[in-house]
Amino acid sequence: MFKLSSDGEAFVQSELKRYETKESAIIPSLYRVQKENGGWVSPDCIQYLSTLMDIPASRINEVFQFYTMFNKEPVGKFHVQVCCNVACCMAGSREMIDKLCEDYGVEEGEVTSDKRFTFTRVECLGACDKAPMMQVNETYHEGLTMDSAKKILRELK
Ligand code: FES
Repeated sequence: MFKLSSDGEAFVQSELKRYETKESAIIPSLYRVQKENGGWVSPDCIQYLSTLMDIPASRINEVFQFYTMFNKEPVGKFHVQVCCNVACCMAGSREMIDKLCEDYGVEEGEVTSDKRFTFTRVECLGACDKAPMMQVNETYHEGLTMDSAKKILRELK
């Protein structure tokens, strides 16, 4: 059964006090849970948060299901999100993610056998003028080429 660290629980309690309504604390709390649960939010995480926050699980689940930044399945140590919206797509991002998946021997959304990578196609990451781009965990990489993307992934520890 999932449980936040004591720091994590203190964070959620402080978020609950910070806003006018408890529901406003759901997004930051889900982020914290995702971080402490290895990059994804499992059903027992939702139950746990529901008890901790005293908010119905169905309400937390609505927020969780709506936002794509919360992962519904386990991901690798490095979650590689490749923007495939218009500007990045025109700069070759679809071919880029296809090639990366091929090189690492996975379909989109799968975890590599060494548990290091998951590749996901996402909508605009907000740096269209620096297309194509990808996000690896919390770091953004812009103005990519196929070679620079591969190099960035090779050098991840
Ligand atoms: S289209 Fe890729 S960052 Fe906007």
